[in-house]
Amino acid sequence: MDNDILKVLYSREDIQQACQKMGEQITADFSGKNPLVICVLKGAVMFMTDIVREINTYLELDFMDVSSYGDGTESTGDVRILKDLDVSVSGRNVLIVEDIIDTGRTLDKLVGLLTHRNAASVKVCTLFDKHDRREKAITPDYVGFNVPNEFIVGYGLDYAGKYRNLPYVGVLKPEVYSD
Ligand code: PRP
Repeated sequence: MDNDILKVLYSREDIQQACQKMGEQITADFSGKNPLVICVLKGAVMFMTDIVREINTYLELDFMDVSSYGDGTESTGDVRILKDLDVSVSGRNVLIVEDIIDTGRTLDKLVGLLTHRNAASVKVCTLFDKHDRREKAITPDYVGFNVPNEFIVGYGLDYAGKYRNLPYVGVLKPEVYSD
C-alpha cells in the first residue's frame, strides 16, 4: 500500500498533535455540557476514536452514515442518509466529527437537519479542511489542518474504498487512479 503513495502530507505524529490541540479546546468549550459527539461514517472513524480520547469531559457518542459522493472522487451534491442517529438531538449540544470538509454540501445538509431537530447547539470538528473547494457557507469550529486541493488518502480517507487503514495521510500517485 505504501508504494501507492507519492508523498506523505501528515504523519501519524502530526495527526496525534493536532488531536491533542483540538481536544484541549473542545474540553474547555464542552465541559459540563454532556455533548453528543456524532461521527460521520465512514471516513471519520479513525479521527473520532482519537479525538474523543483527547476530550477530558463527559460525552456520549452516536453515528450517522451519510453519502455525498457518487463514484469516488467527485461530489454529486446528492446527500443521502444511509444510517440515522440512535438518539434524539433535541436539547443536546452536538459536536459533529468529520474527517474532511470539501464542498461543504454534506455538512450543510447535516447541520440544517440537526438544527431542525432542535439541537441546542451544533458545532463542527474536522481534521482536514479543503477550504478552496467550498460551495456552501460552512465554517468548522475546530480544524486540524487546512489542506491543498490534492487527492489525499489515509487515516479514514479512501480511494474506491481503499487506503482508509493507512496510519498517515498522503497523496496518491496519479497512476493509481488512472489505471
Ligand atoms: C466524505 C467526507 C465528508 C464529505 C465531504 O465522505 O467524509 O463526509 O465527503 O465532502 P463535501 O464537503 O463535498 O460534502 P464520503 O461521502 O466520501 O463518505 P465516506 O466518509 O464513507 O468515505
